[in-house]
Amino acid sequence: MDILLQQAVHTHHLSHEEIVSLLTAPAPAALFTAADEARKQFVGDGVYLRALIEFSNYCKNNCLYCGIRAGNKHAKRYRLTPDEIVQTAQKAVGYGYKTIVLQSGEDGWFDTDKMCDIIRQIKKLDVALTLSIGEKSREEYAAYRAAGADRYLLRIETTDKTLYEKLDPGMSWENRVRCLHDLKTLGYEVGSGSLVGLPGQTVESLADDLLFFQKIPVDMAGIGPFIPHPQTPLANEKSDGHFELALKMMAVMRLLLPDINIPATTAMESLHPNGRLVALQAGANVVMPNVTDTQFRPLYELYPGKICVGDSADKCRGCVEEKIKSIGRFVSSKKGFHGDFLAEK
Ligand code: 5AD
Ligand code: FES
Repeated sequence: MDILLQQAVHTHHLSHEEIVSLLTAPAPAALFTAADEARKQFVGDGVYLRALIEFSNYCKNNCLYCGIRAGNKHAKRYRLTPDEIVQTAQKAVGYGYKTIVLQSGEDGWFDTDKMCDIIRQIKKLDVALTLSIGEKSREEYAAYRAAGADRYLLRIETTDKTLYEKLDPGMSWENRVRCLHDLKTLGYEVGSGSLVGLPGQTVESLADDLLFFQKIPVDMAGIGPFIPHPQTPLANEKSDGHFELALKMMAVMRLLLPDINIPATTAMESLHPNGRLVALQAGANVVMPNVTDTQFRPLYELYPGKICVGDSADKCRGCVEEKIKSIGRFVSSKKGFHGDFLAEK
């Protein structure tokens, strides 16, 4: 373990087998320390905050794990108007956020023109803008980029194609990879990531995920533990051990891609009372506080036990900042593009 860690720290290279042995080693304290040191060296002590706006929970897809899947007839659907989205972004800027993340299910109501309009309005606010709205054509991605979008989040979820296509019926793994490559070649900062603990997922496939992120290469990646949602076909699956495994994945990822932006994911905090702080001390350098209006938060239920559903945007802003300070870190005042910290050093 120690020799492998040394190697990863110095070369940022590990074989598939070596990644598997780091992910399966029983006492990961040294791994977390190594990831924390790499984080400090390559992205610093500043934490980038990204304001998350969950603007629609309509989705045409049917991912077996996801609470807002089209087949969940119990989900109460909502959709913010373009004006409401822009107003929420303005509010977020008022709280000091430098990045806005627009996230939704794959909702066809927001056609290319509507999205581009929203993007142009938000970009007038002098913020970085991230989209997380699913699989689109290259032309659509090009239009959003031309309208001003800077970054795009699209998790691969799993690199195991057979598992992916079983869990995401009707979707094609190749198309998802095509999306990521289109986004990269269009000049977006690309964020991907995995769900950890999916039924049928192996540690070998998790190692493949990390090598896949290195190959693209991604600018950001979020690792989230899978949390079974009661209104989905995976309701009876377990979430035991998913937090720990997701944390290990995240830490190894920091060693392999030392300067990328890695969020302490909300799902981590849903499984562990201080999950985001633990993650920030094991490789993460980003937090994405929710700024969605309180009335909609409970409806954007990808998984149960989501934190802060009853809280307001300003409460989360203050709470997150306090937590970050409590571990000797600070909220960065920068937009936080990939490589900014090293470039300014
Ligand atoms: N548990 C944890 N994360 C989930 N996501 C979707 N459903 C779940 C779940 N049950 C994640 C997916 C998606 C991101 C927006 O939310 O990884 O990419
Ligand atoms: Fe929302 Fe702590 S982050 S209340």
